[in-house]
Amino acid sequence: MSSPSKFFSKTKKISIEKFIYNALYNKDYGYYSKKIPFGKEGDFITSPGISSLFSELISLWIISLWLHMNKPKIFNVVELGPGNGQMCKTMLAVFKKFPNFFKSVNIFLYEKSKILRSLQKKNIKNKKIKWIKNYNTIKKGPIIFLGNEFFDAIPIKQFKKINNILYENYVKLENNSEISTCLKKVNPKTIAELKKYGLLKNQSFIEFPKKGLVELDLIINKVKKQNGGLLLIDYGFLKQKNKNTLQSIKNHKPNKIFKNIGNADITSLVNFALIKNYLDKKGLKVNNVVTQGFFLKKMGIMERAEGVAKRMNFKEKSDLYFRIQRLVSSKQMGELFKFLFASKLKKKFLLGFN
Ligand SMILES: C[S@@+](CC[C@H](N)C(=O)[O-])C[C@H]1O[C@@H](n2cnc3c(N)ncnc32)[C@H](O)[C@@H]1O
Repeated sequence: MSSPSKFFSKTKKISIEKFIYNALYNKDYGYYSKKIPFGKEGDFITSPGISSLFSELISLWIISLWLHMNKPKIFNVVELGPGNGQMCKTMLAVFKKFPNFFKSVNIFLYEKSKILRSLQKKNIKNKKIKWIKNYNTIKKGPIIFLGNEFFDAIPIKQFKKINNILYENYVKLENNSEISTCLKKVNPKTIAELKKYGLLKNQSFIEFPKKGLVELDLIINKVKKQNGGLLLIDYGFLKQKNKNTLQSIKNHKPNKIFKNIGNADITSLVNFALIKNYLDKKGLKVNNVVTQGFFLKKMGIMERAEGVAKRMNFKEKSDLYFRIQRLVSSKQMGELFKFLFASKLKKKFLLGFN
């Protein structure tokens, strides 16, 4: 096994946030810099890979939003962290079936990983699609930001309160091989910041998505300037958890956070209550957060499956329903995954949410 020291700074002591960042995004050794994580041969599978009906319904939701906004002549869709490009590929196929919409739409892919950017370029070829590093390249027209499992992949900070003193979770490396957690007392500025978000009330273990909020600010600013909104889909919770939600996965099985560094994914659950309050405070209107099962059923996933199943043999039908169950069942992804829509629209757009 190679030494984990390449993920640490010279001091051999870094915050858990920095550790996750290095493990996932270090440009030479990070997980997303060298690995294609999706599918059977990878480490995990996401909703677009479970069934194309997921992306089909989201595409129809986007077209309905365009209609709701009175068919803007220029309409931009930004996919945040498009992974292997599967959702975008399906979106493109659905969008093409609506020629008036297709004329108006531009698709932008916001992707940090070089290897995934090349994979996306290989998988989807169309002049409507552009890869961007910065939203400022989109000058005109409303923008719909769409992110499936984007926020859970952004490193978080963790804090512990012991005898009313607040510490940040750090990670240290000893003898170039042993990794353990340790605590570092935080400064008053950090305490004030966490208080501002109501994170210290009755909490002894706190998770704070500082980097996630930086990403969110970029989106909010653009939506405020050009109109549009953000459809955020991820696994997460609405009530404060007081719980360590970091998890690592390798070959579709749980992995210890400090094992297989750079070769396993690390994610955390998204605090939807925090994100909703943040968006509210920054002046965007947020629909009630709903579960994935609720959204997909409201969008007609069962009816669509019935239609598709008519052309299938028994084996294909069972496979389709098995996949749909995985997406909507409360015991699988249906409850843990949430949908949030935030916008600046004057007239509420509640499709899928009520
Ligand atoms: C868990 S994957 C989800 C992929 C895809 N959306 C799906 O549902 O299959 C997370 C994606 O977000 C990308 N990503 C993470 N942080 C990013 C950032 N700050 N900017 C752009 N892309 C990022 C990753 O490279 C990856 O494509």
